[in-house]
Amino acid sequence: MYTQGLDSLGKDCLRDEAKDGAALESRFQARVDAEEKIEPKDWMPEAYRRTLIRQISQHAHSEIVGMLPEGNWITRAPSLKRKAILIAKVQDEGGHGAYLYSAAETLGVSRAELVGQLLAGKAKYSSIFNYPTPTWADVGAIGWLVDGAAIMNQIPLCRCSYGPYARAMVRICREESFHQRQGYEIMLFLARGTGRQRAMAQAALEAGFHMATFTCFLALVAPSASLAEAGANAASYTFLGRLAAACGRQFVQSHQCSPSTRTM
Ligand SMILES: [Fe+2]
Ligand SMILES: [Fe+2]
Repeated sequence: MYTQGLDSLGKDCLRDEAKDGAALESRFQARVDAEEKIEPKDWMPEAYRRTLIRQISQHAHSEIVGMLPEGNWITRAPSLKRKAILIAKVQDEGGHGAYLYSAAETLGVSRAELVGQLLAGKAKYSSIFNYPTPTWADVGAIGWLVDGAAIMNQIPLCRCSYGPYARAMVRICREESFHQRQGYEIMLFLARGTGRQRAMAQAALEAGFHMATFTCFLALVAPSASLAEAGANAASYTFLGRLAAACGRQFVQSHQCSPSTRTM
């Protein structure tokens, strides 16, 4: 486990005083360029460590906050089967937060400190989870589209330079694939359902496509722009809204079936 023995120093750190900082930095860069993993006891630049703490903790907070709207739906899910699936998904999201807090702790920060920053409003999380989920179809749309967008953003992190983060992401991405699939299955069921179910699916997909596109858009601009800057482009927003409505309509229409052929 990567959290063991972090109170003792690694080889690079023991030589730190005898080495010049530039040499350490160039060796660090050479390892990153060679796609070697940087481990907790290895020497690393302070800016790298701080950036990792910010990114990993922000990711962990998003996993924890992300399970809250879905957790609210556990008692209201339409069948025992749906409740069991949703409980498993919510449990996974809590686990993702736990892996990521553990990865952040290897950088010398405590979980209590990170959670304290979240509760005090000092730490950010993905604002996508502030959207309301008024219907069951919203739960399906989030699973299919928002978890799906998260997979696209997070697959590259499985190959990131920091070992504990990369290893946590491998497991997280596998579990996100299940989340995406269960969301798709909910939407497919509703699109093949009654008029009310189809209308509910359409509305949720419009919101979901919008959120998912926004999530991917943020991932592209996040390193260089704030959330406010990213959201400032009104023309892009109008375009995304129209695209979302068209995609939702297309999905619902293409899966319409007569009551006699409904199988689920
Ligand atoms: Fe997750
Ligand atoms: Fe997920």
